[in-house]
Amino acid sequence: MHTSPLHPDFGLTVHDIDLRDVTADHLFPDIRRAFEEHSALLFPAQQMDDATHIRLAELFGPLENREAMAAGRDVAFEVSAVSNETASGVTDAMDLHTLNLQANMLWHTDSTFLPTPALINILTARVLPPSGGGNTELASTRTGWASMPADLKAKLKDAVIWHRLSHSRARISPELARLPEMNKWPDRPWRALWPNPVTGEESLFIASHSFSIEGLGLTEGQEVIDAAIAHCTRPEAVYSHQWAVGDVLLWDERAILHRGQPWDYSEPRTLKSICCSVTEADGLASVRLV
Ligand code: OGA
Ligand code: MN
Repeated sequence: MHTSPLHPDFGLTVHDIDLRDVTADHLFPDIRRAFEEHSALLFPAQQMDDATHIRLAELFGPLENREAMAAGRDVAFEVSAVSNETASGVTDAMDLHTLNLQANMLWHTDSTFLPTPALINILTARVLPPSGGGNTELASTRTGWASMPADLKAKLKDAVIWHRLSHSRARISPELARLPEMNKWPDRPWRALWPNPVTGEESLFIASHSFSIEGLGLTEGQEVIDAAIAHCTRPEAVYSHQWAVGDVLLWDERAILHRGQPWDYSEPRTLKSICCSVTEADGLASVRLV
């Protein structure tokens, strides 16, 4: 693979792969190794339709299907649109749908509130706002953990962090947080440190959904969570991706915090996203409580 660094601390841009050519035996082994080692990969200017997107995602693991997870039975998989476009036009800036997109602008990890968390998000840009904005930003909780001040590390090393979807939504809008959709997953605890099963490097598994640390009061727990996220996302530690249509940006949810950036909400913006769930091979046992 012909690559260059995405950010000095993490990530690679891959210049010479057409993702339509990737199969389990051809190119994927190199991509998977780079994913484990570098945590984020950018493939500029791809020709991604839903079928290509799904085929790539299936190589990483089971497609995350929240509807099936919630129902406890098979439900047809659909590629998620991260979008303010609907059949009747662009959603209003104060619409709950738009507010939910704005909750993506808090530093987070996807799916930490689900019974099985996500390994990866594979995002691709389809429609971009003509006036710009709407970058997606990434920061490494592997290098963030390695450089974290010792007193903060001591509070997190053996910690169990609790996650709740409505917690992040409440930071944007109480009405959004009250929707049944935001309250259907029971609070979920995970150990704070996730050692990568291939490289052994530890990362902090934390999100805007993190609402408490086992054994600490709610206020103190939130202070520790906020301080840890703030450390990992110091401006110099952030990669900000300015999208072009066709770009594919993917990251390791075990080791990367991400957020969206605002745009003019009267303009359309549509990304397509597929998450894959983690499996035991991805080190799930190291964050699960017995
Ligand atoms: C996501 C997400 C951010 C963005 O798709 O999970 O957080 O920039 N997206 O839209
Ligand atoms: Mn997200």
